[in-house]
Amino acid sequence: MFKGKRIYIRKLEESDVKKKTEWVNNEIVNETLMFDFPLSLSESLEWYRKTHFNRNRWDFAICEIQSDNLIGMTGLIDLSYRHRRAQFYITIGEMSAWGKGYAKEVIPLTLEFAFKELGLEKVYLFTFDNNVKARTIYEKMGFKQEALMKKQYFLHGKLNDLYQHAILKEEFLEMYKDKI
Ligand SMILES: CC(C)(COP(=O)(O)OP(=O)(O)OC[C@H]1O[C@@H](n2cnc3c(N)ncnc32)[C@H](O)[C@@H]1OP(=O)(O)O)[C@@H](O)C(=O)NCCC(=O)NCCS
Repeated sequence: MFKGKRIYIRKLEESDVKKKTEWVNNEIVNETLMFDFPLSLSESLEWYRKTHFNRNRWDFAICEIQSDNLIGMTGLIDLSYRHRRAQFYITIGEMSAWGKGYAKEVIPLTLEFAFKELGLEKVYLFTFDNNVKARTIYEKMGFKQEALMKKQYFLHGKLNDLYQHAILKEEFLEMYKDKI
């Protein structure tokens, strides 16, 4: 478990998958998610059983410390030990938990795990062009834009542009040197 001030992250459990399915199917949450939906619970459970021991991804549940409620997920996918990089993701699935600064607490915890525990050198992520909120947060947290890929991802009836951002280990260590 890795603790922030108001949230902690822990390994995702099979019992968390029901909530994940609800979030992915929520049309407001999935507006900015790179995810094939609709999603069934049985598919999600199958996914969990298949990926649980897979070491090219790490999935964490995000929980509020005070209530112990599960509010979202974060993690690293497409992990390459050879190239020392992984793709970051975050979903605060409980919309009542939006705007409280939780993403800003989660991001350094997941990055610290990536750089210090896994020894990665680079963490990158993608955002849809409409996800100005997420991009604002990522840039505040130290991610820098690397690319804008036009008509890259078909979702919600259209080909969407995708931004790619990344943070390097040395940038993270410099930015967070007083906090970790
Ligand atoms: C995007 C998401 C992770 C943000 O989580 P959150 O906990 O609500 O975000 P936080 O409260 O930590 O961030 C607040 C920051 O967002 C920024 N922000 C909020 N609304 C914004 C908006 N409409 N436009 C630009 N920036 C905005 C502010 O800069 C604010 O920072 P401040 O407190 O310094 O002013 C969450 O809304 C989510 O999971 N959405 C659905 C899935 C998703 O889009 N995931 C990311 C995929 S790339």
